[in-house]
Amino acid sequence: MSEIIRGRLLAQKVKEKASQKISKMKQPPGLAVILVGSDPASQLYVSLKEKAAKAVGIYFEKYLYEEDVQTKELIRRIHELNKREDIHGILVQLPLPGQDEDAVIAAIDPLKDIDGFHPINRMKLKQGEPGLVPPVSLAIMKLIESTHQPLRGKIAVVVGNNPVFSEPLVELMKDAGIAGSFLPRISSAIEAKLRVVDIVVIAIGEAGFLTKDMVKEGSIIIDVGTNKIEGKTIGDVHANVFGSAGFISPVPGGVGPLTVAFLLMNVIRAEMLQAEERARGTIAG
Ligand code: GUN
Repeated sequence: MSEIIRGRLLAQKVKEKASQKISKMKQPPGLAVILVGSDPASQLYVSLKEKAAKAVGIYFEKYLYEEDVQTKELIRRIHELNKREDIHGILVQLPLPGQDEDAVIAAIDPLKDIDGFHPINRMKLKQGEPGLVPPVSLAIMKLIESTHQPLRGKIAVVVGNNPVFSEPLVELMKDAGIAGSFLPRISSAIEAKLRVVDIVVIAIGEAGFLTKDMVKEGSIIIDVGTNKIEGKTIGDVHANVFGSAGFISPVPGGVGPLTVAFLLMNVIRAEMLQAEERARGTIAG
């Protein structure tokens, strides 16, 4: 049987560390979340982030907008939040129902971009400079490392619909000595390509897509899919994989809770980066 990677337990430990760090700070770090429209999944994600942030002592603000709000109205709010010294992290819940996502993300001060989506943060990661890294990528790496398997020289694929999601993760894998690459869902002979790799990260949104015959014996499988089937949340990994993979991070209870925990850590890291920037400004000025 496969060993189950316990993402929820790892998340608990990361949140305890976040609490400890915050208890030593002079002021609590602040997080502002922008939510547009009434998509139930987005509402649920925001409420989970709110609850987790408050539980570790982060000051939290939420800005709700109707789904027809103009892009420039969101950008105006972001510029205001960029200037606030009590707000260290800004998150815009995606997808936006029609607004210009790229323009909205680009408006966030890169030092407050706790999702790590800003082009400057993406570039910094590629160049090995300190910046903010997407929490989901940090969570997936932590899940892989928690197997305590030797990772140098391992081959990984990140199966998805869009390479944007995989890029930061592939960078982190490279740092750990893993040869990772993006494998589009629409690849020909995808089953054969999957069968030969040591690590599969899958985020395609097709319930039970990855079956036993597609995975190498003993491999590490990280399920990032969330599919609602008859009110239940199901991942992209089929139940029959639990017999042949070496390690599985399941859905629910895997990457989700750990991503929220790393998001909170990013708020603390953002506060630190902003304090460093201020100190540099003071010295320079
Ligand atoms: N929607 C789905 N995943 C994410 C995420 O990681 N960040 C944001 N802001 N929105 C999301």
